[in-house]
Amino acid sequence: MTDITITPDGQKQGEIVARFIVERAQAALADHRRFFLVLAGGETPRATYARLARPDLAIRVDWERVFVFWGDERCVPPDDPASNYRMAQEALLQYLPIPPEQIFRIRGEDPPEQAAAAYEATLRRLFGEIPRFDMVLLGFGEDGHTASLFPGSPLLKDRARWVGAAYVDAVQQWRVSLTPEALNQAAQVAFLVAGARKADRLAEALQGAYHPERLPAQIIRPVDGEVKWFIDAAAAEMLR
Ligand code: 6PG
Repeated sequence: MTDITITPDGQKQGEIVARFIVERAQAALADHRRFFLVLAGGETPRATYARLARPDLAIRVDWERVFVFWGDERCVPPDDPASNYRMAQEALLQYLPIPPEQIFRIRGEDPPEQAAAAYEATLRRLFGEIPRFDMVLLGFGEDGHTASLFPGSPLLKDRARWVGAAYVDAVQQWRVSLTPEALNQAAQVAFLVAGARKADRLAEALQGAYHPERLPAQIIRPVDGEVKWFIDAAAAEMLR
Protein backbone atom coordinates (compact mmCIF):
# COMPACT_ATOMS: atom_id res chain seq x y z
CA MET A 1 0.00 0.00 0.00
CA THR A 2 1.55 3.35 -1.06
CA ASP A 3 1.89 5.81 1.84
CA ILE A 4 0.32 9.04 0.50
CA THR A 5 -0.49 12.29 2.31
CA ILE A 6 -2.60 14.73 0.31
CA THR A 7 -2.66 18.37 1.37
CA PRO A 8 -4.87 21.24 0.13
CA ASP A 9 -1.90 23.24 -1.17
CA GLY A 10 1.88 23.59 -1.25
CA GLN A 11 1.96 25.68 1.90
CA LYS A 12 0.25 22.98 3.95
CA GLN A 13 2.54 20.42 2.34
CA GLY A 14 5.49 22.49 3.56
CA GLU A 15 4.12 22.46 7.10
CA ILE A 16 3.59 18.71 7.17
CA VAL A 17 6.86 17.77 5.49
CA ALA A 18 8.89 20.12 7.69
CA ARG A 19 7.41 18.46 10.77
CA PHE A 20 8.12 15.02 9.31
CA ILE A 21 11.76 15.97 8.73
CA VAL A 22 12.05 17.13 12.35
CA GLU A 23 10.53 13.84 13.53
CA ARG A 24 12.92 11.74 11.43
CA ALA A 25 15.88 13.88 12.50
CA GLN A 26 15.04 13.41 16.17
CA ALA A 27 14.69 9.64 15.65
CA ALA A 28 18.04 9.40 13.80
CA LEU A 29 19.83 11.54 16.38
CA ALA A 30 18.43 9.41 19.19
CA ASP A 31 19.43 6.24 17.37
CA HIS A 32 22.92 7.05 16.05
CA ARG A 33 23.59 10.68 17.04
CA ARG A 34 23.69 11.91 13.44
CA PHE A 35 21.16 12.77 10.73
CA PHE A 36 22.15 12.31 7.11
CA LEU A 37 19.72 14.34 4.99
CA VAL A 38 19.56 14.53 1.18
CA LEU A 39 17.86 17.67 -0.13
CA ALA A 40 15.76 17.82 -3.28
CA GLY A 41 16.11 20.48 -5.94
CA GLY A 42 13.57 22.32 -8.05
CA GLU A 43 10.92 24.66 -6.65
CA THR A 44 8.52 22.37 -4.77
CA PRO A 45 10.67 21.92 -1.64
CA ARG A 46 10.97 25.69 -1.11
CA ALA A 47 7.84 25.81 1.08
CA THR A 48 9.16 22.93 3.20
CA TYR A 49 12.61 24.53 3.57
CA ALA A 50 11.15 27.91 4.53
CA ARG A 51 8.91 26.28 7.16
CA LEU A 52 11.72 24.13 8.55
CA ALA A 53 13.94 27.22 8.86
CA ARG A 54 11.44 28.95 11.15
CA PRO A 55 12.70 28.93 14.76
CA ASP A 56 9.74 27.10 16.29
CA LEU A 57 10.62 23.95 14.31
CA ALA A 58 14.35 24.49 13.71
CA ILE A 59 14.99 24.66 17.44
CA ARG A 60 13.90 21.03 17.78
CA VAL A 61 16.87 19.63 15.86
CA ASP A 62 20.52 19.47 16.98
CA TRP A 63 21.84 20.82 13.63
CA GLU A 64 25.44 20.43 14.82
CA ARG A 65 24.97 16.71 14.15
CA VAL A 66 23.26 17.02 10.77
CA PHE A 67 24.99 16.22 7.47
CA VAL A 68 23.44 17.67 4.30
CA PHE A 69 23.69 16.34 0.75
CA TRP A 70 21.89 16.89 -2.56
CA GLY A 71 20.11 14.27 -4.64
CA ASP A 72 21.16 16.09 -7.77
CA GLU A 73 22.53 19.34 -9.13
CA ARG A 74 22.39 21.33 -12.32
CA CYS A 75 25.89 21.79 -13.77
CA VAL A 76 26.04 25.50 -13.02
CA PRO A 77 28.01 27.57 -10.47
CA PRO A 78 26.66 27.64 -6.88
CA ASP A 79 25.49 31.25 -7.24
CA ASP A 80 23.55 30.55 -10.43
CA PRO A 81 19.73 31.03 -10.10
CA ALA A 82 19.31 27.45 -11.38
CA SER A 83 21.53 25.96 -8.67
CA ASN A 84 19.82 23.55 -6.26
CA TYR A 85 22.52 24.39 -3.74
CA ARG A 86 21.69 28.11 -4.01
CA MET A 87 17.95 27.49 -3.50
CA ALA A 88 18.53 25.39 -0.37
CA GLN A 89 21.13 27.85 0.94
CA GLU A 90 18.74 30.78 0.53
CA ALA A 91 15.57 29.04 1.80
CA LEU A 92 17.03 26.91 4.60
CA LEU A 93 20.72 26.45 5.25
CA GLN A 94 21.65 30.07 5.91
CA TYR A 95 19.34 29.96 8.96
CA LEU A 96 20.71 26.78 10.52
CA PRO A 97 23.87 26.22 12.63
CA ILE A 98 25.10 23.29 10.54
CA PRO A 99 28.93 23.14 10.52
CA PRO A 100 29.97 24.12 6.95
CA GLU A 101 32.14 21.00 6.70
CA GLN A 102 28.94 18.96 7.08
CA ILE A 103 27.29 20.50 4.03
CA PHE A 104 28.29 18.50 0.95
CA ARG A 105 27.61 20.48 -2.20
CA ILE A 106 27.81 18.89 -5.66
CA ARG A 107 30.31 21.09 -7.50
CA GLY A 108 28.15 22.15 -10.45
CA GLU A 109 30.85 24.49 -11.68
CA ASP A 110 33.24 21.61 -12.43
CA PRO A 111 33.20 19.33 -15.50
CA PRO A 112 30.16 17.04 -14.90
CA GLU A 113 31.95 13.67 -14.79
CA GLN A 114 34.61 15.17 -12.51
CA ALA A 115 31.95 16.59 -10.19
CA ALA A 116 30.17 13.22 -10.08
CA ALA A 117 33.36 11.29 -9.35
CA ALA A 118 34.36 13.74 -6.62
CA TYR A 119 30.91 13.50 -5.00
CA GLU A 120 31.02 9.72 -5.11
CA ALA A 121 34.49 9.71 -3.51
CA THR A 122 33.16 11.93 -0.73
CA LEU A 123 30.19 9.62 -0.12
CA ARG A 124 32.39 6.51 -0.10
CA ARG A 125 34.81 8.19 2.33
CA LEU A 126 31.88 9.04 4.64
CA PHE A 127 29.78 5.88 4.35
CA GLY A 128 32.15 3.06 3.34
CA GLU A 129 30.20 0.23 1.73
CA ILE A 130 26.63 1.51 1.86
CA PRO A 131 25.38 5.14 1.53
CA ARG A 132 22.80 4.87 4.31
CA PHE A 133 21.04 8.23 4.19
CA ASP A 134 18.54 8.69 7.00
CA MET A 135 16.24 10.73 4.79
CA VAL A 136 16.11 11.53 1.10
CA LEU A 137 13.82 14.26 -0.23
CA LEU A 138 12.85 13.85 -3.88
CA GLY A 139 10.79 15.84 -6.34
CA PHE A 140 8.75 14.55 -9.27
CA GLY A 141 8.83 16.04 -12.74
CA GLU A 142 6.01 16.29 -15.28
CA ASP A 143 7.75 13.55 -17.27
CA GLY A 144 8.05 11.26 -14.25
CA HIS A 145 11.70 12.02 -13.50
CA THR A 146 13.12 12.30 -10.01
CA ALA A 147 16.42 13.81 -8.92
CA SER A 148 18.12 13.98 -12.33
CA LEU A 149 17.01 10.51 -13.36
CA PHE A 150 15.10 11.37 -16.53
CA PRO A 151 13.25 8.98 -18.86
CA GLY A 152 15.76 6.90 -20.83
CA SER A 153 18.70 8.13 -18.74
CA PRO A 154 21.78 5.85 -18.76
CA LEU A 155 21.95 6.45 -14.99
CA LEU A 156 18.82 4.33 -14.54
CA LYS A 157 20.85 1.23 -15.40
CA ASP A 158 24.04 2.19 -13.57
CA ARG A 159 24.55 -0.46 -10.89
CA ALA A 160 28.20 0.35 -10.18
CA ARG A 161 28.14 4.03 -9.28
CA TRP A 162 26.43 6.05 -6.57
CA VAL A 163 26.74 9.30 -8.51
CA GLY A 164 26.63 9.91 -12.25
CA ALA A 165 26.55 12.71 -14.80
CA ALA A 166 24.38 12.92 -17.89
CA TYR A 167 23.38 15.47 -20.49
CA VAL A 168 19.58 15.84 -20.35
CA ASP A 169 17.98 16.82 -23.68
CA ALA A 170 14.66 17.61 -21.99
CA VAL A 171 16.22 20.50 -20.07
CA GLN A 172 19.24 21.14 -22.34
CA GLN A 173 21.52 20.82 -19.34
CA TRP A 174 24.22 18.60 -17.89
CA ARG A 175 23.12 17.19 -14.55
CA VAL A 176 24.84 15.31 -11.74
CA SER A 177 22.60 12.89 -9.85
CA LEU A 178 22.62 10.20 -7.22
CA THR A 179 21.88 6.91 -8.95
CA PRO A 180 19.14 4.42 -7.94
CA GLU A 181 21.93 2.36 -6.32
CA ALA A 182 22.54 5.17 -3.82
CA LEU A 183 18.99 6.47 -3.47
CA ASN A 184 17.60 3.00 -2.74
CA GLN A 185 19.85 2.58 0.29
CA ALA A 186 17.90 5.29 2.12
CA ALA A 187 16.10 4.58 5.38
CA GLN A 188 13.37 7.03 4.46
CA VAL A 189 12.39 8.62 1.13
CA ALA A 190 9.89 11.50 0.95
CA PHE A 191 8.56 12.55 -2.45
CA LEU A 192 7.22 16.12 -2.58
CA VAL A 193 4.83 16.72 -5.48
CA ALA A 194 2.74 19.83 -6.20
CA GLY A 195 0.89 21.27 -9.17
CA ALA A 196 -1.77 20.15 -11.64
CA ARG A 197 0.80 19.69 -14.42
CA LYS A 198 2.05 16.57 -12.63
CA ALA A 199 -1.33 14.90 -12.05
CA ASP A 200 -1.42 12.67 -15.15
CA ARG A 201 2.12 11.32 -14.91
CA LEU A 202 1.87 10.97 -11.12
CA ALA A 203 -1.24 8.79 -11.42
CA GLU A 204 0.58 6.66 -13.99
CA ALA A 205 3.65 6.36 -11.78
CA LEU A 206 1.69 5.44 -8.67
CA GLN A 207 -1.13 3.39 -10.16
CA GLY A 208 0.09 2.23 -13.58
CA ALA A 209 2.42 -0.53 -14.73
CA TYR A 210 6.04 -0.63 -13.56
CA HIS A 211 7.98 1.06 -16.37
CA PRO A 212 10.94 2.92 -14.82
CA GLU A 213 12.60 3.71 -18.15
CA ARG A 214 9.58 5.88 -18.89
CA LEU A 215 8.71 6.75 -15.27
CA PRO A 216 12.02 6.94 -13.41
CA ALA A 217 10.40 7.81 -10.06
CA GLN A 218 9.17 4.20 -10.01
CA ILE A 219 12.74 2.95 -9.68
CA ILE A 220 12.91 4.37 -6.16
CA ARG A 221 12.25 1.26 -4.05
CA PRO A 222 14.49 1.36 -0.93
CA VAL A 223 16.00 -2.05 -0.18
CA ASP A 224 15.50 -1.48 3.54
CA GLY A 225 13.53 1.72 3.94
CA GLU A 226 10.21 3.49 3.66
CA VAL A 227 8.70 5.76 1.01
CA LYS A 228 6.17 8.47 1.71
CA TRP A 229 4.45 10.66 -0.91
CA PHE A 230 3.40 14.19 0.02
CA ILE A 231 1.10 15.45 -2.73
CA ASP A 232 -0.97 18.60 -3.01
CA ALA A 233 -4.61 18.36 -4.13
CA ALA A 234 -3.87 19.63 -7.64
CA ALA A 235 -1.24 16.97 -8.32
CA ALA A 236 -3.45 14.31 -6.70
CA GLU A 237 -6.37 15.12 -9.01
CA MET A 238 -6.06 11.94 -11.13
CA LEU A 239 -5.37 9.50 -8.31
CA ARG A 240 -8.06 6.88 -7.83
C1 6PG B 1 15.88 19.37 -10.16
C2 6PG B 1 15.21 18.35 -9.29
C3 6PG B 1 14.11 17.70 -10.04
C4 6PG B 1 12.85 18.34 -9.50
C5 6PG B 1 11.67 18.08 -10.40
C6 6PG B 1 10.45 18.85 -9.91
O1 6PG B 1 17.10 19.51 -10.06
O2 6PG B 1 15.14 20.01 -10.90
O3 6PG B 1 15.98 17.52 -8.65
O4 6PG B 1 14.03 16.31 -9.91
O5 6PG B 1 12.61 17.83 -8.20
O6 6PG B 1 12.03 18.53 -11.70
O7 6PG B 1 10.77 20.21 -9.97
P1 6PG B 1 9.76 21.31 -9.39
O8 6PG B 1 9.69 21.09 -7.91
O9 6PG B 1 10.40 22.63 -9.73
O10 6PG B 1 8.43 21.09 -10.07
